[in-house]
Amino acid sequence: MSSSNLQAPKGTRDLSGSEARAFTRLENIARRVFDLHGFEELRTPIFESAELFSRSLGETSDVVEKEMFTFTDRGERTFSLRPEGTAGVVRHYIENNLWTKSGVHRFFYSGPMFRAERPQAGRYRQFWQIGSEHFGSADAAADADTVVMAARLLKDAGLASFETHVNTLGCTDCRPKHREALLAYLSSKASELTDESRKRMLVNPLRVLDSKVDGPKLKDAPAMADFLCDACRHHHHQFLELIRLAGITAVQNPRLVRGLDYYTRTVFEFVSPHLGAQSAVAAGGRYDDLVKLLGGPATPAVGFALGMDRVIMATKTESAVPQGRSAVVIPLGESTVSKAFEVAESLRKISVAVQPVSATRKMKNQLASASDAGANWAILIGEDELKSGKLTVKDLKTREQKTLSLNEVLETFHV
Ligand code: HAM
Repeated sequence: MSSSNLQAPKGTRDLSGSEARAFTRLENIARRVFDLHGFEELRTPIFESAELFSRSLGETSDVVEKEMFTFTDRGERTFSLRPEGTAGVVRHYIENNLWTKSGVHRFFYSGPMFRAERPQAGRYRQFWQIGSEHFGSADAAADADTVVMAARLLKDAGLASFETHVNTLGCTDCRPKHREALLAYLSSKASELTDESRKRMLVNPLRVLDSKVDGPKLKDAPAMADFLCDACRHHHHQFLELIRLAGITAVQNPRLVRGLDYYTRTVFEFVSPHLGAQSAVAAGGRYDDLVKLLGGPATPAVGFALGMDRVIMATKTESAVPQGRSAVVIPLGESTVSKAFEVAESLRKISVAVQPVSATRKMKNQLASASDAGANWAILIGEDELKSGKLTVKDLKTREQKTLSLNEVLETFHV
């Protein structure tokens, strides 16, 4: 392979510079929010048995049908790179018999996910998610807590405007009745539908409503809301009331069905107006049947995941270093390297970020990379500064220059 063929695979990219910093910053914000809500970190493998995903997400979901990176190892076992985080967390819950230890378990996770989708702005083959899963509570308060926590995370990350779309998909008691009515309705419209929808209709009629082409033709389709059992209706009302009390204005969207099969009752999606076609920045819902489906005891659960790539695109976060807590110290010749080194260390001791000092890198380049890293100050040390004991301090935003003693510089950063 010649060096010109060395490229990151299609749909993947390296994270560097301000983008890498924005990812770290978002992870740190998420950790604080998860702490506030009492969630513990869980790191699961990035590959799992392919069957775990096909059973969890549904054989006929787009992700399983078309988008998994699946491979066979030397022992002829079939694995897939994880396309999402929920299935692995549920596998962990079952494998470790966690229900025998305590009624409730709450986890959060972050890391890369893999889907062989057609790449476009905001859609990658390797992308990053931060998510949570809450096991052992069927209460509407658990759904509300997840939505409030996800909204808090998006706000703290700097996302100024987003919509919260919610819906309920009912449960195994009421969903079959809706499915039957929907199937009858879709059959009556079959001649107007695409081949794909006609095929989908037989395995998962709900997802036909999700179709970009056919969805708009199906405005008078039977709505789940008219088929809900009393328990699901009560659960949904309580959920809506709790998020309202938390200050969230939700858009009730009866067409919100989600692309993965494991959902029951509450589903939700956070949508940013700044992202064009790939507008969902976070999504999730309740999945009360999945633990049992995978071999554990019946366990209610609810969770969400946000797409880090999209959240960062929407916020255009530039820097992980708070403005004004970063500086560059530039020795103007070999003879002042020691002094520059000493000044840099004094600054780091009071938590000011300083790049390694260099007398050989061009001053122009050092100033440019410092600005890119969010630095406000450049401290220049030449022979004159060495003699006078004063430092030349340049404000990188206003270009103003001052002469200050080291103590005066340190005081500036203490405020
Ligand atoms: P999802 O809706 O498939 O749900 O993905 C969640 C978020 O991941 C999306 O809203 C989007 O921001 C991001 N995302 C998905 N695919 C891509 C992609 N190809 N490129 C960039 N970002 C992407 C789940 O994954 C569920 N596991 C969420 C959940 C947790 N439900 C219950 N618990």
